[in-house]
Amino acid sequence: MQEKKIVVRFQETNQIDQFNEEIQTLISQTKAFSANAYAPYSNFKVSAGLVLDNGEIIKGTNVENASYPVSICAERTLLSHAVSNYPNNVIKTMAVYVDKAIGSPVSPCGVCRQTLLEIELKQKSPIQLILVSKEGVYWIFDSAKDLLPVYFDGEAL
Ligand code: THU
Repeated sequence: MQEKKIVVRFQETNQIDQFNEEIQTLISQTKAFSANAYAPYSNFKVSAGLVLDNGEIIKGTNVENASYPVSICAERTLLSHAVSNYPNNVIKTMAVYVDKAIGSPVSPCGVCRQTLLEIELKQKSPIQLILVSKEGVYWIFDSAKDLLPVYFDGEAL
């Protein structure tokens, strides 16, 4: 048997001025948008924002349901909106924010990672991810693939 290793590389900073103006705007708009989260059951208000290749910024939140599994994460609310309304645009960067001080950024759930990967493969261009904590810690991943190594995709079908 041969051991194989996977290394996941990401950057961490707490300096907002390390980002360019477009990304700083994306981050501040995404943070403010968490006020729109519909999370009456968990009170865990998540927002996501993304910047397209035309410079447009669009945002989404989690939307919960009394039947808990019906709830949708902020990332998938936003990605569904992006793919259906901007089918020919490329997503450059997506930011995710949780309005709760938990010490470090929250990272997308497995289902959202699979959705991100699908869209990254569809657009043939990596989606940069910026995970933002309430305390001002930023984790930067260069691609959805970094969050989902050894992924399943449509090539196998
Ligand atoms: N949630 C998100 O919106 N994104 C994540 O990355 C993690 C979890 C939502 C789903 C649910 O509304 C609440 O957070 C608690 O799980």
